[in-house]
Amino acid sequence: MLNLTPEFSKSLDQAAYLVSHSEHVVMLAGAGLSVESGIPPFRGPGGLWANGKGQTNLSYREFLRNPGEWWETRFRNEDKPGDPTYELKIAVDQASPNPGHHAIVEMEQHGFLQCVVTQNVDNLHRVAGNQNILEIHGNRSFLRCIKCGNRLPRDDYHFDILPPRCTQCDGIIKMDTVMFGEPIPEDVLMACRQQVETCDLMLLVGTSGTVNPAARFPIIAKELGASLIEINPDETPLTPWCDIILNGSSGELLPLLLKRLLNISLIERGT
Ligand code: OAD
Repeated sequence: MLNLTPEFSKSLDQAAYLVSHSEHVVMLAGAGLSVESGIPPFRGPGGLWANGKGQTNLSYREFLRNPGEWWETRFRNEDKPGDPTYELKIAVDQASPNPGHHAIVEMEQHGFLQCVVTQNVDNLHRVAGNQNILEIHGNRSFLRCIKCGNRLPRDDYHFDILPPRCTQCDGIIKMDTVMFGEPIPEDVLMACRQQVETCDLMLLVGTSGTVNPAARFPIIAKELGASLIEINPDETPLTPWCDIILNGSSGELLPLLLKRLLNISLIERGT
């Protein structure tokens, strides 16, 4: 539970002032944002990959070696309690957006936030109602053709044969989620780069800042003159780059930030 000391409250005020007086605000979101929706993060205590749990079946090279076999293993793992694939699936299937996701939507709707670059594959930004989202690591509710890049909802696809084939070009289909060793789809990466180069403020929410290229985005933005605000209960490698650091959970802090933003805009409109 957050201890809203006068000092912390001042940092929140400063963050709200900075957000409301920036031209183009981009958020870089990570797994911490969905922790309060019941989805474990990847790293740290209780993380999917903590306690020596392997990052099973996530290598792109392995996928390409034998896509049919990969899909068979995938379906088996999704039914195997204890496997990270199973744990993530169960958690995501049961999850709904938390107050942090809802605050992000309101920030976007009120024009305080121009784009969310998310590393999360859990679909919760879309469910919450965000419009301008770049899913740099894909979305586990979608499939993607490795030949033509066509994306389609996983629920609409019938896995009659393995590996599944693209209905448009007959290319092999994988999960839309980006795997280890797989290049980020060029269209998404280009769009992210454009946001990074355009923003004058980046909000870093619930990311450990350890996986490139996303982890480099705040540093590039900073070098180009943007300010950085971090919302995270823990210190990260990005913390030393930040102008304002708000230590706490995003489910608590984002609604508090939104409240201040709405107050500022009421005051500045003179109502
Ligand atoms: P991590 O699991 O690496 O980091 C989660 C971060 O969230 C940590 O810094 C935590 O301290 C913080 N955190 C925990 N609870 C929080 C809360 N309630 N509110 C805010 N922050 C909280 O997740 P990512 O940085 O997203 O890639 O990891 C990056 C990528 O690593 C993931 O997208 C995934 C993995 O490889 C793919 O799935 C392709």
